[in-house]
Amino acid sequence: MPKITFRNSNLTVEVTKGTSILEAALEHRVPLYHTCGGNCSCSTCRILVLRGAENLSPVEVDEAELLDSFDLKTPHRLGCQSLILKGEVEVDIPSRDRKPRDSKIPPLPDE
Ligand code: FES
Repeated sequence: MPKITFRNSNLTVEVTKGTSILEAALEHRVPLYHTCGGNCSCSTCRILVLRGAENLSPVEVDEAELLDSFDLKTPHRLGCQSLILKGEVEVDIPSRDRKPRDSKIPPLPDE
C-alpha cells in the first residue's frame, strides 16, 4: 500500500491507492484547509511535496491553472488534486505565514 508522511504532524500512514492527500489528511485528523471542499477552486489545500512527487498523479490542467494563478510553484501541489498512487510521499503543510507571494496568495481562513 502507498504511504504518506505529514511532516508537520510527524505522522506516516498507509492509504489506498488513489486516495487524495486531502482525503488522507482529513481521515487522520491532520489539519489541512479545504475551503472549496476539494473542488479545485480555492487553493487553500496547498501542500509542499518534499519527497515522492513521482508517486502522485500528474498535475492536470485545472490544478496547473489554479497553482499558476496564485504563483504557487513546484513543489507546491493541491492536496485535493494530488492522488497517492504508489510508494512513499512526504509532504509539508505550509503555515499561513509562509506565503510565496503575499500579493497574490489568498488568505487562509481563520481557525
Ligand atoms: S480544497 Fe479547494 S482547491 Fe483543494
